[in-house]
Amino acid sequence: MSRTPLIVGNWKMFKTIPETTAFCLGLKEDMAGLDGKKVGAAVAPPFTALSAAAQALRGSFISVAAQDVFWAESGAYTGEVSPKMLADAGCRFGISGHSERRQYFHETDDSVNKKAAALIKEGLIPVICLGETLADRQGGSAFAVVERQTREGLKGLAVKDPERLVIAYEPVWAIGTGQTATPNQAQEVQAFIRKLLGEIFSSTMAQGVRILYGGSVKPENIGELMAMNDVDGALVGGASLDVKSFAKIVRGSISR
Ligand code: PGA
Repeated sequence: MSRTPLIVGNWKMFKTIPETTAFCLGLKEDMAGLDGKKVGAAVAPPFTALSAAAQALRGSFISVAAQDVFWAESGAYTGEVSPKMLADAGCRFGISGHSERRQYFHETDDSVNKKAAALIKEGLIPVICLGETLADRQGGSAFAVVERQTREGLKGLAVKDPERLVIAYEPVWAIGTGQTATPNQAQEVQAFIRKLLGEIFSSTMAQGVRILYGGSVKPENIGELMAMNDVDGALVGGASLDVKSFAKIVRGSISR
């Protein structure tokens, strides 16, 4: 089964509403000649700019993703945003479990799982992030950590269509450090995650779910990463903040 490449730009806590609109209009223009059946792209602005991004990207194949979500439908949860609110703002994807959320905001495998389930229930596509720390890798437990995060994060998710789930493998030591995992390191772990998808769901899911790589992806290294069988795209932080750089990464992912 061929998997359409997907590039998601995770803006983190950057860009105001006018900056978002300018970026998205520029990106839409730049991508106008591309075939949305050959590649998928999404930007993940802060909550405040989601709706502006959706508006600016209307009529293009580029989607909007939220960086986080809360799992309840509504209620007294000051500061939180529900899946329905994200759908209302024009999102197609929702990121769950980014390592910065795990590190600074006490996300656990359980909360990541609940958020993913809530996104699916609302018809949104979760982008579930996982990946080992440097200490895990140096201590020889990278695969054990990835297995736990995968099994716990995906537990009981009601998804049968492989296009409705995305995984992002992001080794924590490669995020924002300029130190990209080698294509072989990414491939090795991502093939392992795909094998787990077969055990957790089905072979159809294992074959069809897109597994993105994340961690210091740039226009210069997207080609070699995409050359790997189990790398189906990228979750891009720093290099997604500049339209030209992000557009180059999207184009660079199409070759497969
Ligand atoms: P980076 O971030 O591309 O800046 O390393 C990736 C991410 O955090 O998703």
